[in-house]
Amino acid sequence: MLCLKSATEAAWLERAIADTPALLIDHAHCERKAATQALTLLAEYPEHLELVAPVVAIAHEELEHFETVCGLLAARGLTPEPQAPTGYQSGLFKKVRKAEPDRLIDRLLVAALIEARSCERFKILSERHPDPELRAVFRDLLVSEARHHADFVRLAESQADRVTVHERLRHLAEVEVRAIERAKPLPRIHS
Ligand SMILES: [Fe+2]
Ligand SMILES: [Fe+2]
Repeated sequence: MLCLKSATEAAWLERAIADTPALLIDHAHCERKAATQALTLLAEYPEHLELVAPVVAIAHEELEHFETVCGLLAARGLTPEPQAPTGYQSGLFKKVRKAEPDRLIDRLLVAALIEARSCERFKILSERHPDPELRAVFRDLLVSEARHHADFVRLAESQADRVTVHERLRHLAEVEVRAIERAKPLPRIHS
C-alpha cells in the first residue's frame, strides 16, 4: 500500500496526454535520476552494508527502466534534452534532517515517497493513456516502482523503531503533497 496523502487530479492526466513527448522525456530523466540517487546513497553510507543488496537491485532496475524509456524515445524520434527542475524533488530533499541517523531515515523515506508518486501516476497512465504501447510499458514499470517503494520503507524501518519511522513517513507524506501542489504544472511525472 502506498503512503501518499493525496490523489492525482484529472488535470495532470490531461497535461500528460496533451504533451506525451515531454512526459516521456521527463520520464527518461526520472529513471536516470532514480538510479543516480540509489548509487549516491551507497556512496554516502558505505558502512551500511544492509543497504547494498536492495539498493544495488533498485539501481539495476532503474537503469533498465531508463534504457526502456530511451528506446521509446528513439523509436518516436525524441531527444531527451535537459529540463529545468519543477521544484518537486528539492521541496522534499530540503526537509531531510541533518543529524544521523535521522538523515539516512529521511533520505530513505523521501525516496519511498518519490517511488510512491511515480507508481500512482504510472497506474493512471497504464489505465487511461490512449496509446496502448505506453499503457503496457507503464503497467510493467509500476510493479517495480511499487516494490521499490516498499523496499525503501523497509530499509528506513531497519534504522529506528517502526513507530518513529512511520510517524516521520506520515509527516514527509504531507510535505510531499505540498511539493507536488507547488511544482510547476508541466507534463511531467512529478508536477
Ligand atoms: Fe523506475
Ligand atoms: Fe523506482
